Amino acid sequence: MINLIRRMETGCEPFPEELAALLSDAAPAVHTTLFEAADRVREKNCGKAVHVRAIIEFSNVCRCECVYCGLHAKNANVVRYQMTEEEILEAAWDAVEAGYQTVILQSGEDLSYSRETVGRLVASIKRMGNVAVTLSLGERPFEDYAYWREYGADRYLIKHEISDETIYNRYHPHSSFAARLACQRELSRLGYELGGGFMTGLPGQTPLILANDLLLLKKMGVAMAGIGPYICHNETALRGNPDGDVNLTLRVVAAARLLLPRANLPSTTAVNVKGGLTNALNCGANVIMQKATPYKYRNLYDIYPGRDSKDIPLKEQYEALRAQLSALGRTIYENGDA
Ligand code: 5AD
Repeated sequence: MINLIRRMETGCEPFPEELAALLSDAAPAVHTTLFEAADRVREKNCGKAVHVRAIIEFSNVCRCECVYCGLHAKNANVVRYQMTEEEILEAAWDAVEAGYQTVILQSGEDLSYSRETVGRLVASIKRMGNVAVTLSLGERPFEDYAYWREYGADRYLIKHEISDETIYNRYHPHSSFAARLACQRELSRLGYELGGGFMTGLPGQTPLILANDLLLLKKMGVAMAGIGPYICHNETALRGNPDGDVNLTLRVVAAARLLLPRANLPSTTAVNVKGGLTNALNCGANVIMQKATPYKYRNLYDIYPGRDSKDIPLKEQYEALRAQLSALGRTIYENGDA
């Protein structure tokens, strides 16, 4: 295994089977070697600076039926909310003022936000200063993607979730794996920085599937990959299943760093919920995504359990993060090149 890690560190692509074996190796010495290699590759290619992004979860209305997600269309227990354009812009402005250089607009697949509405939001946020806008709105007509790009959207986040086509199609009865990959391809073609990713520990995900999840990121040419543990939600078809393992998630993030030396790899909100933030930053991650959704809506965006309790202003949230990073010998990336 140690030899495989060395090979990967120098840029050799592993076979799926050997990568699967690496990910399932339980030896602590192997984990440590993998984490240290990922940390070196991150330091060499990305430096010490951490990109900090603000996510505004502006609507929890969703037409999809993902079997793992608490916001699935048929969950009648969710109190649904839709922020107004004005509320969204206010939240974005708060984030920009607090120092965040990327605003991520995320929602369920809520078609009541039209192509034009989203375009206006993107253009307004781009005018707030040197800020990148990332959209994470799921599968939409390709014309929408093209339109938003023209209005200035920089990046789009749409994960492949799990690379096994049969399982994907079973877990997403409203759509298909082929449709998902077609969206990713089109977004890249349009010049978006593509953000992909997947969950670790989804029921049915074998080590080989997990290895293929990693290799698919590379094949799709993602600029960013969000990798987070599956967290069981009791109002879903997958209720009763165990959560994904955080240590495994960190090993997967570390392997992603070896495979994609220059990619942006966040410590995802799901990792943070599980207390893995600090560790992820030492295992290859170079990005932090933090919620900037107004508190009155935050706990309604209930994709998976893990609630925000204290209501702190965004500026304080940002400064607390700066202090935490500085204690780890890291800095916030702030030189204007959002
Ligand atoms: N556990 C962890 N992550 C989840 N997501 C959705 N449901 C869950 C869950 N139960 C993730 C998916 C999706 C993103 C918005 O949230 O990866 O892309």
